[in-house]
Amino acid sequence: MCGIIGFTGHKEAQDILLDGLAKLEYRGYDSAGIAFFKDNGGHISIRKTAGKVNDLRAICDDDNTSTCGIGHTRWATHGGVTNANAHPHKVGKVTLIHNGIIENYHELIEKYNLSDSLVSETDTEVAAALFNKMFDGDPIATIKKTVPLFKGSFAFCIMFKENPGKVFAVRNVSPMVATNTDAGSFVASDLTAFINFSKRYFIVPEYTILTMEEDKISLQDLEGNNVEPEYLEVNWDISAAEKEGYPHYMIKEIHEQPRAITRTISPRIKDSLPNFEDDNIPDSFFENCSDITVIACGTAMYAGNVGKTFIQNALGVPVNVAIASEFRYERPVLNENSMVIVVSQSGETIDTLEALRLAKKYTNKTLAVVNVKGSTIARESNYVLYTHAGPEIAVASTKAYTVQVASMYLLGCKLGLVTNKLSVEKAKEFMNNLKKVPDMIKAVLTQEDKVAELTKRMTNSTNAFFIGRGLDYTLSMEGALKLKEISYIHAEAYAAGELKHGTIALISEGVPVIAIATQDHVYSKVISNIREVKARGAYVILLSKDEKITDKTVCDVHINIPPVADEFTIFESVIILQMIAYYTSTGRGVNPDQPRNLAKSVTVE
Ligand code: F6R
Repeated sequence: MCGIIGFTGHKEAQDILLDGLAKLEYRGYDSAGIAFFKDNGGHISIRKTAGKVNDLRAICDDDNTSTCGIGHTRWATHGGVTNANAHPHKVGKVTLIHNGIIENYHELIEKYNLSDSLVSETDTEVAAALFNKMFDGDPIATIKKTVPLFKGSFAFCIMFKENPGKVFAVRNVSPMVATNTDAGSFVASDLTAFINFSKRYFIVPEYTILTMEEDKISLQDLEGNNVEPEYLEVNWDISAAEKEGYPHYMIKEIHEQPRAITRTISPRIKDSLPNFEDDNIPDSFFENCSDITVIACGTAMYAGNVGKTFIQNALGVPVNVAIASEFRYERPVLNENSMVIVVSQSGETIDTLEALRLAKKYTNKTLAVVNVKGSTIARESNYVLYTHAGPEIAVASTKAYTVQVASMYLLGCKLGLVTNKLSVEKAKEFMNNLKKVPDMIKAVLTQEDKVAELTKRMTNSTNAFFIGRGLDYTLSMEGALKLKEISYIHAEAYAAGELKHGTIALISEGVPVIAIATQDHVYSKVISNIREVKARGAYVILLSKDEKITDKTVCDVHINIPPVADEFTIFESVIILQMIAYYTSTGRGVNPDQPRNLAKSVTVE
């Protein structure tokens, strides 16, 4: 979603803003712009355009010496992708950028008579007009009285014409972080925008006004009390957020999975048993649990589905997986003994956050599986289990998924032990298998060339199907999502036995069917289902533990998944599915890191 950066300091701002925006490109956007105090005086200039950061770069001045400015990448919500709708928006003495949605913008236009000041179709310009209308010469007093008038989510970065050299910011829900460095002060949607300058940062608290000057940064709440920033530090450096020789972030992140899993599980397996002491999650959290609800969106939800299948089958504990955007508006069936696990890479997905807030009205047994340290979901849940995947920059989630699945296995195993539903012996066997996952993935990654080759057959397809049973079915959903989001091929996941209840009508000559058959207890059933589609002309790519399958009545291409216990094949198979999506995408000339219409961190409903 929209990306924000603001800078004031001792260096020229334009390159800092443009480079920061380039780092925020991964969030997804369709237009870009910057504003700056021209010649560091009281005139604010704007450059903005529909298109990419490079298009913006092309219309910027070479001789811009300003040391204070703001920059924005816009993901359209209100109003189309046009130059006029791009941010920054300037109304009178106020210039601002915004991430979020002002839900009551229509009422505000009417009530404060703002329509004459508006030239775009955006809710953001209405906010700029309202700040301008309320402006009384004092930026902080103006922000204090204007901000409570907005309904919705926002992260604003504001420059007032009469205050050259200063950038003000305030937020509700939409993420924003800041820091002060020797080079100057920064604010941004996330740390990647200024990681070149600092690994230290703080999260701007909600409804707190941030004032940035070249040498200092200060925070004040809406009552006028000073607030001390709580600095955090990331344990990854700039190289983690760069491609390091790979053509795309996505393929780099696919290859990073062995390390990401090792970093996530190693500190939590002691004496071959799951251990959350360092996470401050007490065993009592797992006691007296009547049921489990996993809440998440997209890929994170599919990781939750794997957790459900595993926990239900291994422990017999009922698990419900809820789509966060649905859960929010349904009647939650939770009680004080219900365990709620929210899963989110970014920790900022608004639907997941709001679902967590709702769940907390029923139970204090909430736990977040989150990748981004200090994110809102991590801060608001009762307990947090951080995945240590490092920054995930590609829009399509890869390493975040496998570390989430690994975390679900750790949690499931602990639950089984605490509730005596799993023997110590079985738990140890399980954890020892989990420790082998990084090596299993390394072995599968060696098949990259074969996968790249087979996708040549898929680049001209318009439809594809993913089928499997049990854990392989949950994985099919992730495989289908990955393919459609970055290759734009329509893909559906089906429980292999369900196809013949309708969907098999769509199978015709040459339609690719990616079949996953790694679960021993249903292997022969899946093979029968595959024969059904093969008999109707499907082009079948089969993933199974068989060393070799040459029978053309079963499949056209066979990919061997090194044999491991059934619960663990998912870590191997997903790598193949991620690579199928990646190479199909690049084969179709799509940039998999920035697929159309998608945003990395979904901070609007
Ligand atoms: C798909 C993908 C999305 C995210 C979803 C949740 O590849 O990345 O489906 O999984 O938007 O995002 P987080 O995990 O940040 O809450």
